[in-house]
Amino acid sequence: MSKITAAITAVGGYVPDFVLSNKVLETMVDTNDEWITTRTGIKERRILKEEGKGTSFLAIKAAENLISKRKIDPKDIELVIVATASPDMKAASTAAYTATQIGATNAFSYDLEAACSSFLFGMSTAAAYIESGRYKNVLLIGADKNSSFINYKDRATCIIFGDGAGAVLFEPNEEGLGLQDELLRSNGEGRAFLQATYGGSSYPITQEAFDENKHCVFQDGKTVFKNAVFNMADVAERILKRNNLTNDDVNWLAAHQANKRIIDATANRINLPEEKVLMNIEKYGNTTSATLPLLLYDYESQLKKGDTIIFAAFGGGFTWGSIYFKWAYNS
Ligand code: UT7
Repeated sequence: MSKITAAITAVGGYVPDFVLSNKVLETMVDTNDEWITTRTGIKERRILKEEGKGTSFLAIKAAENLISKRKIDPKDIELVIVATASPDMKAASTAAYTATQIGATNAFSYDLEAACSSFLFGMSTAAAYIESGRYKNVLLIGADKNSSFINYKDRATCIIFGDGAGAVLFEPNEEGLGLQDELLRSNGEGRAFLQATYGGSSYPITQEAFDENKHCVFQDGKTVFKNAVFNMADVAERILKRNNLTNDDVNWLAAHQANKRIIDATANRINLPEEKVLMNIEKYGNTTSATLPLLLYDYESQLKKGDTIIFAAFGGGFTWGSIYFKWAYNS
């Protein structure tokens, strides 16, 4: 019997309607469209404005989009993983709420958090369940409402982040398609350079911390940038080497959308021309856990059965990695 591999068999996506453009940001902080465009590649990002709606709202929309496109019965879904760095609430699983709301009432569900690498690490987790033979379908959702902890007076972060969600369905494949290999890493020394300090268990929120926006994400952009460029390019290059792949064998690079210059550096390291690099950062900015599935959502019609995709991500923690993947269907 051939080995069971874990393939993606459907994709869904959702971004909120409200567009926060560079032009509007110019009125909020000391920045300008030209600086943001040339330094990051971002033109606009989407923001979930409605009060009381959190990450699960985005996750539910993306999952519903997948369910209606693929015409599956949500009751057949066995596991729902919500990869997110911005859960709805403490002490209540965002995934459990999401699964119930989409009608996946026979599924168990949980959240998975690895900052901007959450979805990439979630791909590894979802695939392992399928490869084990214990589950036949796993819904992996990457969703983040970053605007809930962005300081819109801090130009080092507010220009980058946006809100959004993407969903993929993992199912067994007997043609050898789906996840082929992975190289996942983390280094806790990195948390000093990218974190929201207050509001977690180390430093519960205080009035003073709140007034100083210390519950919002802070980053030492330069250090994060350097580490992202080095590590994302490194794992992408290594995963190609150890699978004896050349740049000609790769159809697409699907890299975390944090900064166009980081993506370009990764593509350059593995000698991939621009037309093989999936890119939508200009429309959404950095949606954390949603960047990779939103790339699949936007480019789904161009992906062909058997295409080789190199996924790569880098995020807070630090966390990073690369996955070598074979696409399983024509849409
Ligand atoms: O998903 C993982 C999470 N995050 C990331 O991967 C982000 C990684 N970092 C970055 O993308 C970049 O470091 C930033 C976009 C955050 C900053 O870009 P940079 O090219 O590293 O800029 P910089 O911090 O080196 O600043 C260069 C100059 C400085 O001015 P001086 O000292 O040269 O006069 C900054 O004060 O640009 C200035 N600057 C800005 N100017 C206009 C910094 N931010 C802005 C801004 N608008 N928003």
